[in-house]
Amino acid sequence: MQTDYQNTHNRVSLAGLEPLITARWSPRAYLDTPVTQDELALVFEAARLSPSCYNEQPWRFYTSTDASYDHFLELLVEGNQAWAKSAPVIGFVVASRNFERNGKENVHAAFDTGSAWMAMSLQARALGLYTHGMGGIHYDRVYTALGLDPDADQVICGFTLGHVDPAGAEELSARKPREAIWTAVS
Ligand SMILES: Cc1cc2nc3c(=O)[nH]c(=O)nc-3n(C[C@H](O)[C@H](O)[C@H](O)COP(=O)(O)O)c2cc1C
Repeated sequence: MQTDYQNTHNRVSLAGLEPLITARWSPRAYLDTPVTQDELALVFEAARLSPSCYNEQPWRFYTSTDASYDHFLELLVEGNQAWAKSAPVIGFVVASRNFERNGKENVHAAFDTGSAWMAMSLQARALGLYTHGMGGIHYDRVYTALGLDPDADQVICGFTLGHVDPAGAEELSARKPREAIWTAVS
């Protein structure tokens, strides 16, 4: 397992922050180094252990293989295809809309699936890998391609997974100040 996640892309941040947090960012250039089956298993193991309302675990992840890669790539909007084609793995994140326990709508499904996405993204970084989420996908076509029922399943986003190409590093996205997202109410 690589432990180089305190990389050159670290953001200026508060001392004491967990290094994996600052080491995660979303690249648009990947090396052609494949992602191994063992790495994939660990990434989705992290997703599996995420918290969820009623422990429903509404998340599902679909990843490309050599056989489906070109098909998966075509499900992205052109702007994303342009860079995502360098990634060795393309995937889609899906949430089950309804509770398995009673069939009622699970309004927390997307929230819970987001936490699983973050867990897998941080596990990826711990392995030396990177993820990049994509809302720019042809949603209708993803439902069809994956055989999903829009009444039962919500396609959340696409993603790429792989080893970053350092030559394609971009400026990191800015963040709101902490005061803008956290209010201690007294
Ligand atoms: C659900 C979701 C959808 C996104 N959609 C796209 C996209 O379609 N294309 C793209 O280039 N980046 C996309 N992004 C990446 C964001 O722009 C990026 O996460 C944000 O700017 C923060 O940067 P960072 O992830 O490098 O920290 C998406 C991210 C998420 C979580």
